[in-house]
Amino acid sequence: MDVQTEIGSDVYRAAELLGKGELVAIPTETVYGLAGNALSSSSVIKIFEAKNRPAFDPLIVHVANPAAAKVLATIPAHVEKWMEMMTPGPVTFILPKKAVVPDLVTSGHPTVGIRIPNHKLTLELLAQIDFPLAAPSANPFGYVSPTNANHVADQLGGKLPYILNGGECPVGIESTIIDVSGKKPTVLRLGGFELEELEQKMGVEFNDIRLSSSQPNAPGMLHSHYAPKVKLYAYDEAPMDSIGKNVGAIRFKEYDANLIKENQIILSESGNTREAAQNLFKSLRQLEALDIDYALVEFVPQKGLGKAINDRLTRATARR
Ligand code: TXA
Ligand code: MG
Repeated sequence: MDVQTEIGSDVYRAAELLGKGELVAIPTETVYGLAGNALSSSSVIKIFEAKNRPAFDPLIVHVANPAAAKVLATIPAHVEKWMEMMTPGPVTFILPKKAVVPDLVTSGHPTVGIRIPNHKLTLELLAQIDFPLAAPSANPFGYVSPTNANHVADQLGGKLPYILNGGECPVGIESTIIDVSGKKPTVLRLGGFELEELEQKMGVEFNDIRLSSSQPNAPGMLHSHYAPKVKLYAYDEAPMDSIGKNVGAIRFKEYDANLIKENQIILSESGNTREAAQNLFKSLRQLEALDIDYALVEFVPQKGLGKAINDRLTRATARR
């Protein structure tokens, strides 16, 4: 049964609904999340259902501060220091879970993903409630993540009563996931926290980043993901028969002179990878509104957030 979905910025309303076991979409600095009470199995089931998400793909749990994280996970002293240094911010820590976290949240894994998001409204919300929030990105499984409230309403409208509107997400791509549950920290997903800065802050080197998409470390890192409804091709994999076809493109900073300008979307005219990340998912959605047969994808320079952007673009161009 579909419900009426309201968009607003009333933190109290959001808190009240969540307290009753309902789902609320929440803004974060990275992307919008589809949140429910992480300690309530029935709320967590609603999240999986609304997203059509397979049960093997665990959810990240959002809390207000490291003290709240300690209730859910076993956190060694050095990791707590990292957490204090890097949060609130676009990073998720994988840690050994405590028994209070339902197995449904972690898909049966002995670890839980903990995130302290840097968004004023959501931090206010977390201060209002006495439970943590399980929240995957607020999109149907396999689709592009939402970076504003309308994106959520377009795709999940009718499946939740409230979208807490916190404006456009300033980072625009999901959090960087680091597994700190073992001896050596490893990166499971590139994301909004730049790797170089993480290495510097943590005083470690991530030399064995295994981000293979066929054998994902984070169960949700499937080969084909972030898929808009338009067919996307890397330039070197483009179909040969382009004659008579309307071809669009996602470009880093300059138009492709061989294509119609109106069919192209520029990620950052100034060539800034942060701005490109901010615009990435919105641009993939904009492609859908164009009258094109398919679109070409230009990868961005591998610096700053460039690697994380290219990771998303690679998955978005993967053949299904
Ligand atoms: O920025 C973000 O992280 C956003 C916002 C809403 O916080 N959330 C997000 O959630 O991107 P989601 O569910 O779309 O992606 C979370 C990823 C999935 O690939 C999942 O498999 C992985 O994190 N993950 C969650 N718990 C895990 C665990 N215990 N071990 C390994 N991977 C885990
Ligand atoms: Mg997601």
